[in-house]
Amino acid sequence: MKDLTSKKLMKMWCDFWTEKNHKQIKGASLIPQDHTVLFTTAGMQPLVPYLTGKPHPQGTKLFSIQPCLRTNDIEEVGDNRHHTFFFMLGNWSLGDYFKEDAIKWSWEFLTSEKWLNIPKEKLAVTVYEGGEGIPRDETSAKIWEECGLDKNKIFFFPKKDNWWEMGSGIGPCGPDTEIFYDTGKPSCSKNCNPSCDCGKWVEIWNNVFMEFNIETAGAPLTKLPKQNVDTGMGMERVVSVLNGYKSTYQNDCFEDAINQLEKLSGKKFDFENKDAKSFAVICDHIRASVFLLGDEKPTTPSNVGQGYILRRLIRRAVNSARNLGIDAKCLSNIAMCFINFYKEEFNNLWVKQNFIITELETEISKFDKAIEGGLKEFNRVIKTLKQGDIIDGRVAFRLFDTFGFPFELTEELAKEKGIIVDKLGFEEAFSEHQQKSRDNSGAMFRGGVAETQSDEDKIKVARLHSATHLLHAALRKVVGDYAEQRGSNITPERLRFDFACDHKLTPEELSKVQDFVNEAIKADVEITCEETDPQTAKNSGAIGIFDNKYGDKVTVYTMGNFSKEICGGPHAKRTGELGKFVIQKEESSSSGVRRIKATLE
Ligand code: SER
Repeated sequence: MKDLTSKKLMKMWCDFWTEKNHKQIKGASLIPQDHTVLFTTAGMQPLVPYLTGKPHPQGTKLFSIQPCLRTNDIEEVGDNRHHTFFFMLGNWSLGDYFKEDAIKWSWEFLTSEKWLNIPKEKLAVTVYEGGEGIPRDETSAKIWEECGLDKNKIFFFPKKDNWWEMGSGIGPCGPDTEIFYDTGKPSCSKNCNPSCDCGKWVEIWNNVFMEFNIETAGAPLTKLPKQNVDTGMGMERVVSVLNGYKSTYQNDCFEDAINQLEKLSGKKFDFENKDAKSFAVICDHIRASVFLLGDEKPTTPSNVGQGYILRRLIRRAVNSARNLGIDAKCLSNIAMCFINFYKEEFNNLWVKQNFIITELETEISKFDKAIEGGLKEFNRVIKTLKQGDIIDGRVAFRLFDTFGFPFELTEELAKEKGIIVDKLGFEEAFSEHQQKSRDNSGAMFRGGVAETQSDEDKIKVARLHSATHLLHAALRKVVGDYAEQRGSNITPERLRFDFACDHKLTPEELSKVQDFVNEAIKADVEITCEETDPQTAKNSGAIGIFDNKYGDKVTVYTMGNFSKEICGGPHAKRTGELGKFVIQKEESSSSGVRRIKATLE
């Protein structure tokens, strides 16, 4: 379909499924409930509890437009089809309809004149050929034929092609039937089919028949209580292939951003040109950053977890702006293009535009400064080198560690001079550094406790420390899971706690937080401590930043049902010892971070 825009496709998706009596579910946060993955990577992810049996409050027939973020291909972004951030259109049956309706509706949406109006000759499908105790999916093949698809356009493939499960290998899963679009390229061989990657066939939609479950890693398949359908269609890809575009960046959602970049750089976006990569990286990464910052659980740039990915996205966009000869400060204009484009569908971006732009600008200027310092050092390093020489891995690591100068940038600039960078040496220096931080991490918490003198003071500090855990748990309960610790400092007189939060806490929020802590104190539960490995700690729901920071053993402190957190101690013996918890002050600490000072009376 020519002239299909992403806006039109989103609207059609909503109209079609509404007509089929499905209820729209709001796109979930990019930060999943389940802490085993950093980001929401598929439309079905927020639905896992319902696919495994929990009743959904909106019923058994659902659809959504889900913002997703996948960073495994981050280095590939810049070609004509990779993205980190994209929208997945999905529809679900939770124990309601199964193969027949799912396939017939897919066919109708794709081929009917009222909807995408794709000529049926342009489509092919794949189905599961059977194996591992699951029969060949003749049912799906037969339904496709009944729809009007030629038999020779139905391909049977094994598990590696026609089975879908989550990246972790755990959770609901099942055989799928995938729908492919013929781009019109000539066949690569007599046997050219949708499973080859010659580019003739592009997958546009996946229907997964989820009736199985894998409960733990490596466990055998079990049957789910109900037969579900889970489908996913990548919006950017569909818009691009149906229009016959050469790149997924030729899309209405990127149009304003690309126009601005062309004006600022004086260069033209042409996917075959060497500058295309910089255009695409800026478009993809700034759009991703806008959605991460504007999310209901906002991520802010930092050196760990999701914050680190955001930092990386912004920094890569800054490098690309430099490549195009654009002042990186202009990236906030590019961010505004996306905020404007999505303001109807994702009003939160519009409402939070000041926060988004301020955070972005702060990070850009921090990085700009780092680059300046790093560039001076880099030039000093290469002064004595000539073409064909090698930059020592440790030197590259120092540029990275001390100056915040990205390794890729060192590599890129060196390449321009015909100099090679010792990547292996860099990686070695990097892992040595990680090992050192791990060794220090046992002492991590002690950084938060001021040096104390008397035994009496030590007891006071331990109590305030336990109160800090309760406060952390309370904030996450009242403000949201994203309200993670950003800093802690304890003296015998008071605690001071910094946490991620995009707003000043309201008096109601503050009193809820204070009440939560005082209830935990009143409950007088025992404070227990257990040594375990980080994975077990994580699975048990303990709070902590799981990024290999902790080494093999961690200590988890538990206070009844109130708090569970990885920590090096010291703590009180029971919550009842703490007395009365009083918040003295709530203020801003830095952008996106709030600070609470509190005492125990
Ligand atoms: N879960 C499947 C996918 O992500 C279909 O939604 O492709």
